[in-house]
Amino acid sequence: MAKISASLLAADFSCIKKDLEKIKHVDMFHIDVMDGKFVPNLAMGPDFAKSIRKLTKKNFDVHLMVISPENYFKSFSMADSITFHIETGNVDSNIRKLKNMKKKVGLAINPETDVKKILPYLKKVDKVLVMSVHPGFAGQRFIVYSLEKIKKIRAYIKKNKLKTMIEVDGGIGPSNYKKVISAGADILAMGAALFKNRKLSKFVKEVKLA
Ligand code: DX5
Ligand code: ZN
Repeated sequence: MAKISASLLAADFSCIKKDLEKIKHVDMFHIDVMDGKFVPNLAMGPDFAKSIRKLTKKNFDVHLMVISPENYFKSFSMADSITFHIETGNVDSNIRKLKNMKKKVGLAINPETDVKKILPYLKKVDKVLVMSVHPGFAGQRFIVYSLEKIKKIRAYIKKNKLKTMIEVDGGIGPSNYKKVISAGADILAMGAALFKNRKLSKFVKEVKLA
């Protein structure tokens, strides 16, 4: 059964409480942090994450789309898990830093990065975050070749009997979520498909039953 993580980037910040109430049946939240350097956009700082912490007891993951993510680990220590990108380097030492902080560790991989690069790290992290869009914006189209990447990661996890979770992020919605789950995803991070969905509770139920 796949879990749903709501990507708050697609929420309406002018009525965030109302939007959080709308998505109360999702399993967890996903907070996108962007520095305008690693990705061509700016989003959500630690003060925003602190406010969300006050509004919910649900688990939340902070997805750091920033260069030198280690500079931000302390600022986001209110999160339950912290995900940084393999493309930013210092992977082993960053995993160690997060483990020392007793945080769950996520490692993200961009669409253009070869899946082989992430395989050796799978045994060291709690979760891999497969980007199925080029990071930076909500509401983009799902990149279909990500499905192959998910399948390869799933096969590696199975072969090596690992417990690592696979989360997929970007462009997932009613038309493609089943394919993402059958490829091997445990968690679907979704923004537009949740916050811009008029039949939200029906969709959430469908995903959970898929
Ligand atoms: C993209 C972000 C995603 C995004 C997902 O850079 O990392 O989390 O907000 O939003 P949708 O589901 O709308 O693609
Ligand atoms: Zn994200």
